[in-house]
Amino acid sequence: MLKLFEREQLNLAKLPEEQTAIEVRDLCLRFGDKHVLHNITMRIPKHRITALIGQSGCGKSTLISCFNRMNDLIDNSVTEGEIIIDGRNINRKKENLSVLRSQVGMVFQRPNPFPMSIYDNVCYGLRLQGIKQRRQLDDAVERALIEAALWDEVKDRLFESATTLSGGQQQRLVIARALALKPSILLLDEPTSALDPLTTLIIEELMADLKKRCTIVIVTHNMQQASRVSDYTAFLHQGELVEYSDSDTLFTLPEKKQTEDYITGRYG
Ligand SMILES: Nc1ncnc2c1ncn2[C@@H]1O[C@H](COP(=O)(O)OP(=O)(O)O)[C@@H](O)[C@H]1O
Ligand SMILES: [Mg+2]
Repeated sequence: MLKLFEREQLNLAKLPEEQTAIEVRDLCLRFGDKHVLHNITMRIPKHRITALIGQSGCGKSTLISCFNRMNDLIDNSVTEGEIIIDGRNINRKKENLSVLRSQVGMVFQRPNPFPMSIYDNVCYGLRLQGIKQRRQLDDAVERALIEAALWDEVKDRLFESATTLSGGQQQRLVIARALALKPSILLLDEPTSALDPLTTLIIEELMADLKKRCTIVIVTHNMQQASRVSDYTAFLHQGELVEYSDSDTLFTLPEKKQTEDYITGRYG
């Protein structure tokens, strides 16, 4: 039988350090006295797309937000365990969060362009880093918009407000804003759930292209999407990592009964 998607399969449990983008060791997280993540241990491979799936409330957004310490913004959050990115534990006290968040970009469900021009949106982070040279900004804006597959649609209207763009264009703009900072990891939290099917397809194709540049972690409640776009899939249930393997195996031959029940729609 002809296999459409030949995927190289890595051994996730023994993934060598040089192929690991994120190593999670015994990660626990609680909000106040509510325990949300329990002893998560996993290695997320470089230049691959890894999907996080599971019922609403199981901790997908919380887990992905640990990868650039967005949970720090929540007052009562307490994190234990280590997350190794680029050879360092990003949970350490002295971690520089603005550097971390430029290395690990994040895109949310609702496109959130800033109320300013398309151009200013894309170079927002670069300006915060103190880059002022027009030429340098122009080049970075063009590059990021090309990488986000949006350049052709906006190159003649860069100075129009970002709010004039369609939802799908806004989502690609937000991706371009993250890409301008040359992140090594891109976190996408249900990036297409507010978009129509056609626009969703454009974003999925974009992801497949972007993994050449960075590692992608995507939260999705859409299992078709997870099996279509991701190389690896992690299934979470009530804050525990139940099963994590290459997506072909997880969706066709899951090891655990809980995973099977979820992917066959017995609950969820
Ligand atoms: N700021 C918060 N304070 C308290 N509990 C929270 C907070 N954010 C999320 N939670 C709880 O943590 C659990 C996991 O939430 P979340 O990570 O958003 O789930 P998912 O993205 O899988 O739907 C849920 O029970 C949710 O109610
Ligand atoms: Mg969520």
